[in-house]
Amino acid sequence: MNSSISRARVLVVEDDDEQLTDLGQMVASFGYTAVPASSGNRALEALSSTKIDAVVTDLVMPGFDGLSLLRHIKERGDAIPSIVLTAFGSIDKAMSVVLDLKAFWFLEKPVQPKVLKALLERALLQKNLIAQTDLMSRHLSHQGVLCDMVGSSPAMAQVFYAIRQAAPASVSVLVTGKSGTGKELVARAIHRLSPRAGGPFVAINCAALPATLMESELFGYEKGAFTGALERRAGCFEQADGGTLLLDEIGEMAPETQAKLLRVLEDSKVRRLGGKAETQVDVRVIAATNCDLESAVTKQKFREDLLYRLKVFAIPLPPLTERLHDLPELIAAILATLNKKHGCRVTDVSDEVLWRFKQHRWPGNIRELRNVLERATIIANEGTIELRHLPGGFQSDFAPPPVDSLESGDLPIQPGAKLSDLEEAYIRRTLKLNANNKRKTAEILGISERTLYSRLAEYESRQTV
Ligand SMILES: Nc1ncnc2c1ncn2[C@@H]1O[C@H](COP(=O)(O)OP(=O)(O)OP(=O)(O)O)[C@@H](O)[C@H]1O
Ligand SMILES: [Mg+2]
Repeated sequence: MNSSISRARVLVVEDDDEQLTDLGQMVASFGYTAVPASSGNRALEALSSTKIDAVVTDLVMPGFDGLSLLRHIKERGDAIPSIVLTAFGSIDKAMSVVLDLKAFWFLEKPVQPKVLKALLERALLQKNLIAQTDLMSRHLSHQGVLCDMVGSSPAMAQVFYAIRQAAPASVSVLVTGKSGTGKELVARAIHRLSPRAGGPFVAINCAALPATLMESELFGYEKGAFTGALERRAGCFEQADGGTLLLDEIGEMAPETQAKLLRVLEDSKVRRLGGKAETQVDVRVIAATNCDLESAVTKQKFREDLLYRLKVFAIPLPPLTERLHDLPELIAAILATLNKKHGCRVTDVSDEVLWRFKQHRWPGNIRELRNVLERATIIANEGTIELRHLPGGFQSDFAPPPVDSLESGDLPIQPGAKLSDLEEAYIRRTLKLNANNKRKTAEILGISERTLYSRLAEYESRQTV
């Protein structure tokens, strides 16, 4: 047994004193530290004062019972593996706890030591594996990688930190950012890093449908609820039960749908269109938008109460132009997926391309970057992406290179340097950046082509003297 597992603390919860003592001794005989609790409330105290690695709990107990205890553990997002003990004949109930509350497994009483030992070993091993994966992804996030996202700029480090903070709890999250900044990727990362990762991830675009259709998609409908409702259908909330629901472009949601959504968020119950009964759902909601919801509230287009309900945790995503530092990492990550997708062997982009990318305004943010790279990858097929592989817009971009983009090694910017030397270095560098295209270089430098030619001739003659 691995040493961190053998030092594990196992909380044993049982209201019958005799059984509690037996179970405690049994757990201790496996080499673990048993933490006994004679009621659900005692178990809560133990959980808040001691680091517990696994729980063995009776299901039926007076007062705060095993079910409430497991619900509490799940809501805290602690992911402590729990084994449920059940009296003979109540396997169905125990099974539903295992499925609904994701308890590790159940065990019928009287407990057989061999079986409990094997179950505890597996449960603790699973906990260790989860902890290791978490550690690894934490480590990677410090290196600018989190799930499918890359970026080590300070702006993205802040985003990764917020994702990590929000993930374990079941609170609503509002992700904001311009088009293509990675809002859906953030929502998926939160889901993957949350205790709901094993549950479904459902996404719905609130802008895509008119109000009534939207409601039938969200809440489902009964057979005959409206013309065309030929059979009953579960809505997104029911489909996402036990998992996460992404409400994309929430700013576009119709006011009447907003009111219904608020009600569902408040009491976690949905009623299908045309139905009477309400269904309890356990769904974590993440909303995404590229609108300014605060100003939509002022214009009375968005409900203020809904905004506050959704915005328990807010994660704003910066536009690409505010994280140009991430460009090389983003390019490498995107090229890797594109190579796989198209069977290409593109390795990188040229310095000139990277420089052009740094000048570009990127209104479509990372999605636009991906599209530009996809086209270029297909054209280049292998090696380095050059300027000629990019769309015309990038090639005829005449913005002058900012001085800081010129490698200072190329320019004699030192006290005492002659202005004519500086001019020569600047002209030569601009020429190089524009693949020796004299017309373009002259245009960028704001001089005539004739002046450029005469300057170059002058430099040549200086060298040959
Ligand atoms: N940090 C990142 N690292 C790597 N790829 C990214 C990152 N952010 C976004 N992408 C990629 O950019 C594209 C757009 O991302 P996504 O769909 O999440 O953006 P969005 O904000 O939801 O866009 P929209 O507003 O258009 O719905 C996807 O291909 C995604 O994989
Ligand atoms: Mg999106």
